[in-house]
Amino acid sequence: MPSLSADNAKQYSDNQKLAARARINSKYTVAEIGWFPWVAKQLPLQAGHRVLDTGCGPRWFWAASVGKWPEGLDLILADLSPGMVHEAVERCRVLPFRSVQGQQANASALPFEDRSFDAVIAMHMLYHVPDPAKGIAEMFRVLKPGGFLAVTTNGADNMRKMYELTTVFGCAPSDPAAAAFGFDTAQRLMQGQFGNVSMALHPAGLRITDPEDVFLALTSYPPGDEASEAHLADLRRAIAEAFEQGNGILEVEKQVGLFISRKIA
Ligand SMILES: C[S@@+](CC[C@H](N)C(=O)[O-])C[C@H]1O[C@@H](n2cnc3c(N)ncnc32)[C@H](O)[C@@H]1O
Repeated sequence: MPSLSADNAKQYSDNQKLAARARINSKYTVAEIGWFPWVAKQLPLQAGHRVLDTGCGPRWFWAASVGKWPEGLDLILADLSPGMVHEAVERCRVLPFRSVQGQQANASALPFEDRSFDAVIAMHMLYHVPDPAKGIAEMFRVLKPGGFLAVTTNGADNMRKMYELTTVFGCAPSDPAAAAFGFDTAQRLMQGQFGNVSMALHPAGLRITDPEDVFLALTSYPPGDEASEAHLADLRRAIAEAFEQGNGILEVEKQVGLFISRKIA
């Protein structure tokens, strides 16, 4: 399948495609605590911190976890896509931050001074960066001594039951994000750059009841977004069979993790 780092503008020029994937998570996740509040609770943020949120996307994260992070943060929202930056700033400027700024920026060459942030957050974005080690080195560079980097990504078994359906397109039956930047790679690259890393797994699964949401999610990124009519018909058949086997429900295990490294002073 095409590289996840290719054609970012097509995938993220607006939030429609990302929304199809996010919807399946927000609508069907079975978890004691949702993903965004779970992450927010674990970030060692303090009032007054200057925070870079790189690959911010439309930034539902901050809106979904108000009260789980301290007020008085200075937030810089950065993304390769100007449309994402605009939407994220609009969403976050009404939240209880001390200041919110947006900046179009490539994580491989961050346009920020050395040692200028207390925290860098890179959630579900390093699998899009062609050389994630370079991205992590940039994040290390812009962190102040004592600051931390928080990265989230997927493991190789994430939502396997859904990805098995994409074999109709000739894809591997596993999460392409994890193939590009999965748990092992996150652990190895962050340990290599920072000399320390801790990992936590969000306990969650999906209980999907509407086959159409699976179809929309799997056709929101390559190659499903450009599949032929014949392949789309195969996908619909495979989805229908999976729901039939589960008596109308598709139970899917998730494997999503948070990695934190600290820049030793
Ligand atoms: C899957 S979305 C994640 C959005 C958000 N961080 C979240 O967790 O919901 C990936 C985001 O990374 C951005 N992105 C891709 N490559 C990038 C790069 N090299 N530098 C900065 N952002 C990038 C995309 O434009 C997109 O908004």
